[in-house]
Amino acid sequence: MPSSNALDPQSPQARAIYELAIQSTIVFILIFVVVAGAIIYAIVRFRGRAGEPDPKQIAGNKKVEIAWTIIPFLIVIFLLGITLSAMNRVEPPPPPSPDLVVTGHQFWWEVDYPGSGVITANEIHIPIGKPLSVRLESKDVLHEFWVPKLTRKMSNVPGQPNHIWLQADKPGAYIGQCSEFCGTQHAWMRILVVAEEPSQFEEWQRAQLQPAQAATSDAVAKGLALFQTSTCINCHAIRGVAGADLRVAPDLTHVGSRKQLAAGIIDNTPANMRLWLKSPQHIKPGALMPDFSFTDEQLDQLAAYLSSLQ
Ligand code: CUA
Repeated sequence: MPSSNALDPQSPQARAIYELAIQSTIVFILIFVVVAGAIIYAIVRFRGRAGEPDPKQIAGNKKVEIAWTIIPFLIVIFLLGITLSAMNRVEPPPPPSPDLVVTGHQFWWEVDYPGSGVITANEIHIPIGKPLSVRLESKDVLHEFWVPKLTRKMSNVPGQPNHIWLQADKPGAYIGQCSEFCGTQHAWMRILVVAEEPSQFEEWQRAQLQPAQAATSDAVAKGLALFQTSTCINCHAIRGVAGADLRVAPDLTHVGSRKQLAAGIIDNTPANMRLWLKSPQHIKPGALMPDFSFTDEQLDQLAAYLSSLQ
């Protein structure tokens, strides 16, 4: 199971944030120990005892005043220094054209690769060892893209693109999630980042660029016809299928090759695909995918068709 532990950084950017967190925590602990220690020492050492006169009253001490102005000032300057250095490692300026555009929708992520033309959803493939510049956008409300092991949090703001870097040191799967409340299914806006060897990534990209697979059986052909004649094509695109070119909802050209459905709620198996088509509002209440009340036969055909789109 891929994890999303921010304390286990797997990219130079995530490591910079992690190291900053550790260094500042050490500074805070030292301050706490010194301040709490001084208070405890004063309480024990100078406690009032019966018969003792009041302690001598001091109006001010120039040396102490200067010391406790300069020391915190230096601490703040140090924190500023390590913060700026981490920011410099996490977010150098973005190049003019992004490698990836990730657009937040209620409640899923659209993923475009402008260079190659690949369009997918809820699953990002990246080659390892290479920083990819990502432009973040939103189609509706504020979302926030966050893959804790790989990168910082950044808002997806409608009409105001933001940039981050996405990079992974090692091959693997990394879980991300929306981290800004955006509606009923905010918790189920997962994103899966699959980091691969460059050759494997190229292979994936080539496969994604192929038009949708042709029907291989009667049931699949009926599923395709159903997809075209029902209202599916009003929202979903499938490359190579006549009439299916609207991208209001996830592009389904290769939906069968994705690991999860409905932005991470269920694994992508033919049985789960059928379940999702049968009652999307039961699996993901508030999602924009309506219940179509398909018959059992229609469900079998549609699920067979969509799962065949590898
Ligand atoms: Cu999208 Cu929270």
